[in-house]
Amino acid sequence: VPSDFTASAPCSNTVELLGKSYPQDDYSNVTEKILSKVGKNLHNRKHHPLWLIKEQNHASRRKEDNYYLNRDHMLRAHTSAHQWDLIHSGLDAFLAVGDVYRRDTIDNTHYPVFHQMEGVRLFSCHELFSSIKDGEGLQLFEQGHRTAHKQECHTMEAVRLVEFNLKQVLTKLMTHIFGDGLQVRWVDCYFPFTHPSFEMEINFQGEWMEVLGCGVMEQQLVNSAGAQDKIGWAFGLGLERLAMILYDIPDIRLFWSEDERFLKQFIGPHIWQKIKFQPLSRYPPLINDISFWLPSETYSQNDFYDLVRTIGGDLIEKVVLLDEFAHPKTKKVSHCYRIIYRHPERTLTQDEVHRIHQAIEESAVRELGVEGRF
Ligand code: FA5
Ligand code: MG
Repeated sequence: VPSDFTASAPCSNTVELLGKSYPQDDYSNVTEKILSKVGKNLHNRKHHPLWLIKEQNHASRRKEDNYYLNRDHMLRAHTSAHQWDLIHSGLDAFLAVGDVYRRDTIDNTHYPVFHQMEGVRLFSCHELFSSIKDGEGLQLFEQGHRTAHKQECHTMEAVRLVEFNLKQVLTKLMTHIFGDGLQVRWVDCYFPFTHPSFEMEINFQGEWMEVLGCGVMEQQLVNSAGAQDKIGWAFGLGLERLAMILYDIPDIRLFWSEDERFLKQFIGPHIWQKIKFQPLSRYPPLINDISFWLPSETYSQNDFYDLVRTIGGDLIEKVVLLDEFAHPKTKKVSHCYRIIYRHPERTLTQDEVHRIHQAIEESAVRELGVEGRF
């Protein structure tokens, strides 16, 4: 036992760490100096450079985009939050499904509570290359440069195969669910935990709808979870979006309906039963605009969307920013939003919508500090 350890450890036969005692033995060599660093968590110290870089890497934890119970606890915003733990537990391939929560835009394909399915698949060098002719000498890892197509530590051969397998598995999944004849396209994109990254879009009722994000897992994440000899892909898909396509459900709010006319349509003899949703008759929308000057301090569009949701609930079909305008002299910025009110299951009255719209105006002034131009 090093002398500086015994010297500063008054009770010499145990090591105390974060409220737990560990008996000392002939293997103990940790010093008091090192122990004093445990639990400092520099990465959690506000404004520390490590905190800054960590925060920049976790765009998905921004308060504007998420629901926080308090400073330490937020509702998960995607099932990717479980990737690390599941890999760490020793799994090589898994699916994980869960409800997720986000402050987000408002329209027929976005809802603040939705459901995702996460998929991860890891490959050892042998698994990945075994089916390749003359593939014995191929490697997963090298020390190279990060490009648009690969991470610095991956070989091009490994990434090509992983990406090919990922896209093939997902394309097959879609054919399995929808049959042939679906219009599908891949779009390059960015996620902090995959590179390269892609989104799949499917043509739904004449428009391209994003259904999933995916990519080659960042090797740092895989390594830190204890699978440093493997390379892997991951995807996260929106279950509502896929169900909307499969059953022709035009509006995401309908999933929350308790209306028998909705729920009864999905009762069948088995899960493969072909079902085409017969829309409950569409009731007319009521449209109201709202304009205000933004406060000089921070304002986030999601704050406004969330407020509209909180007050209007499922009567809100869509909110669009119609116009943004900066006053040439005062430099004040004004936003004009169009709010489309439509109940999925009944006709709204002017009166009812007027009252809600007014409550939104008043609340925006009170809660967000905007200056009404009502
Ligand atoms: C993610 O959440 C990533 N975690 C996906 C991922 C996993 C990427 C693994 C790479 C590896 P994104 O924010 O794009 O990505 O959401 C994934 C899917 O969830 C979207 O494609 C969409 O189908 C669905 N989705 C996203 N926001 C909403 C929303 N507000 N309402 C309903 N569905 C949504
Ligand atoms: Mg996306």
